[in-house]
Parts: sequence; structure tokens; C-alpha cells
Amino acid sequence: MSAPRTPPSGARPPWGSSKVAEPHLLESDALPALLQVQGLGKSFGGNRAVDDISFSVAAGELLALIGPNGAGKSTTFNMVNGQLKPDAGSIQLDGTELIGRKPRDIWKLGVGRTFQIAETFASLTVVENVQMALLSADAKLYSLFTRAAGHKRDEALALLDQVGMVSQADRPCSVLAYGDVKRVELAIAMANRPKLLLMDEPTAGMAPKERNELMALTKRLVVERGLAVLFTEHSMDVVFAHADRLIVLARGRLIAEGSATEIRDHPKVQEVYFGSGKTFEKKAAVAP
Ligand SMILES: Nc1ncnc2c1ncn2[C@@H]1O[C@H](COP(=O)(O)OP(=O)(O)OP(=O)(O)O)[C@@H](O)[C@H]1O
Ligand SMILES: [Mg+2]
Repeated sequence: MSAPRTPPSGARPPWGSSKVAEPHLLESDALPALLQVQGLGKSFGGNRAVDDISFSVAAGELLALIGPNGAGKSTTFNMVNGQLKPDAGSIQLDGTELIGRKPRDIWKLGVGRTFQIAETFASLTVVENVQMALLSADAKLYSLFTRAAGHKRDEALALLDQVGMVSQADRPCSVLAYGDVKRVELAIAMANRPKLLLMDEPTAGMAPKERNELMALTKRLVVERGLAVLFTEHSMDVVFAHADRLIVLARGRLIAEGSATEIRDHPKVQEVYFGSGKTFEKKAAVAP
């Protein structure tokens, strides 16, 4: 769990006068969903962490899952990737039910996730880390004997090129700047050719410029590869600038869904971020 990042009541709104993403090209409601979540629920003791939520993600869509601390975002992610068993509902990828499958089987079906910094191998070089991921991805298809390490290096370099890291391919991961490690993590996640990529707070700990660069890069992968991405992010400026569509959780319930503009102006969203009775306009008026 992360430290609170939503402003206390009376503070500047988290989205100020931020840039809003271009209207998305996809009318996701009209597209067949890649991921279809229906009536999903999870309680921890008496705490309904995720309470009967339904949403979908289409191929080629960058969907933001936002909400205050403790809203149930990570719990939702961990049910989709199989680390947590839901109490209720259904999670289908391309029509295949994921509930009841092991995390590794879900990964094999095409659900990737970005990992935290500790999970790259600091002693290996950048390109070696991506080669490892490629070999691991191929292990689901081929035996040990059919692997060709040299070829994998070329493929790894191609992935690193996509995330702008090819010039640092032969440096150890341990010497990289934080933002560059996040790019390598993205290349590692892409090595398995996921259909859906889950990114839980991918830009945590990054400076605003790096945050925007990482999300712009992610958006490019979404567009170029038809990848579906579900991500959480606490910086509303980043969310509004890059997400195609947003869904909002509060105390385990899905309270709103729509474009950046629709969500920014949504009364229920303003209420959970600013406290009942306050509106975005009133808060904006006191912002510096
Ligand atoms: N393993 C667990 N055991 C007990 N309670 C948990 C567990 N994981 C999460 N919770 C509770 O479930 C609720 C949702 O937590 P979750 O981590 O999903 O929120 P989140 O939206 O990801 O928050 P944050 O923005 O802080 O990351 C919280 O009340 C939290 O305390
Ligand atoms: Mg979380």
C-alpha cells in the first residue's frame, strides 16, 4: 500500500488545469471487449474491498482505474492477474474465464504486468534482462533445446528500441536512472507479447516529466500493437493527459466511467476527491 497522495480537503484539486487527452479514436463500447469483468467482489473480513464492479477493456485502449487510497484498485488488479481469488463475479479474457486459474497460466494467456524495481536483475545488463524475459516467454512454447540466445539478443534489442533504451543495452541495470529502469520493465513486460498489460502505479516515485514520458510511451505501444492497458495512477494530470477512458472506484464501488472531461466534471468524482458539499469549481477558485 502506498502513502496517501490525494490532497486533504481544501487543498488544490489534483487535476488543476491539466491537459486532457485527445478524444479517443476508439468508441470502446462499440468494440468487442478483450477483458470483460462482471460483478467482481472481494472482502477481507468484513471489509468489502471490491464490491460488485463491472467494466471492460478493449484491445488498443488505455484505460485508467482511479480512486482514493484504499478504493480497491490493487485488489482489482490482483484478482485479474490471479494473485487473489475473488468471492464473486467473472473475469474473461477473449471469452476465457480467468477465475480459478493460476497467475502463471493467466500470464500465459496474455495478461502481463509491470514489476517493481526489485524484480529486475541488477547484476545483469539491460539487454540480458530482456533476453531472460524473452526466454521465459518462449519456454511456454518450446523446449530448452530449441532456444537460440543470439537471436534473442536481436529480439531483445528490438524491444529496447521500442522503449528508447537500446543505447543503454549493455549497461548493468544497477546503474540506470529510475525512469530508465521503468522503461526496461516495460520492455520486459512486452517480451511475453501480452494482449492485456496491467500497470499498478507505474509512475510512482517519478518526476512529472518522466511520468508523462512513460505514459506517452505506453500509449504508443497501445496504438502500435493494439495492446490493451489497464493502469492506476495518482497524478490526475497524467491520467487526463494520456488515458483513453477512465473508471473510478471509491470504497470498492465503481462510481463513474467516461472520458477525461466527463470524469473531471462528474459530481460523484468531485465528491470523493473533495468531500461532500464541495465542488470542483469552488476548490478551483481557491487554488493558487
Ligand atoms: N491483503 C489484504 N488483507 C486485508 N485487507 C486488505 C488487503 N489488501 C487490501 N486490503 C484492504 O482492501 C481495501 C482496498 O485496498 P487496495 O490496496 O485495493 O486499495 P488501492 O485502491 O489500491 O489503494 P492505494 O491507492 O493506496 O494503492 C483497503 O481497505 C485495504 O486496507
Ligand atoms: Mg494500490
